[in-house]
Amino acid sequence: MIYLKTSSEIEVIRANGVILGKTHAEVAKVIKPGITTKALDEIAYQFIKDNGAIPSFLNYNVGGHRYPASLCISVNDVVVHGIPNNYELKDGDIISIDCGVYKNGFHADSAYTYAVGNVAEATLSLLRTTKESLYLGLAHAVAGKRIGDIGFAVQSYCEKAGYTVVRELVGHGVGKSLHEGPEVPNYGRRGDGAKLKEGMVIAIEPMINLGKKAIHQESDYWTIRTQDRKPSAHFEHTVAVCKDKADILTTFEYIEAVEKESAYLATI
Ligand code: MF3
Ligand code: CO
Repeated sequence: MIYLKTSSEIEVIRANGVILGKTHAEVAKVIKPGITTKALDEIAYQFIKDNGAIPSFLNYNVGGHRYPASLCISVNDVVVHGIPNNYELKDGDIISIDCGVYKNGFHADSAYTYAVGNVAEATLSLLRTTKESLYLGLAHAVAGKRIGDIGFAVQSYCEKAGYTVVRELVGHGVGKSLHEGPEVPNYGRRGDGAKLKEGMVIAIEPMINLGKKAIHQESDYWTIRTQDRKPSAHFEHTVAVCKDKADILTTFEYIEAVEKESAYLATI
């Protein structure tokens, strides 16, 4: 179902977006070689709780499979939904951190991919292009445009740069549920798909591969990896569709401030 949000509901999601942006930043502060992804998850859980919110992903149920953490942490060839564990980050890794927070009846959802230390130039370019494609795509989240306009913008930009777009996983509506309609693919044709209406709130989340587009779901049910084991990048914002603009409700502002100051993170 697609639910339209009132302007006061949108302000609740924006406020949650601030908590979410600060959660990401708290995690970003401690990213360095040697830290485990589980330690990062614990920091996020505590910060979200301390802010009177609930981690949207913790115990999220898909067909009887409960997601066991507050963050999805996806390293290198993991596309999305990596489960935090005892893996220790190392120099040259890329790490996607996806998080959602729930407070006052609504969710906010965002993701960012970091470069830990000295990352191969080809991989850094993948991160830059993916991040840029998110902004190019979300610029079409304007009333009267269509879902396909977003996907077309992401796909054409990323494919021109030589990358591939994951098809099996898509963006989504966000509201009282973490995942609502409409689906928001990162591929498509201009003018195709559902018409965007004022009050829709959608998560746009390009998942872009350095190599081929094929993915593989691991036996833990959650972890999605590239089939060719080449790196994959993921950036996500929650965005409200407005009359003549896209209104970004989540923020990378706090993340980018930490990224700039960190001795361990390359600036994307
Ligand atoms: N942020 C993810 C998404 O946008 C949700 C992760 S699935 C979960 O679809 F189980 F971890 F919640
Ligand atoms: Co999402």
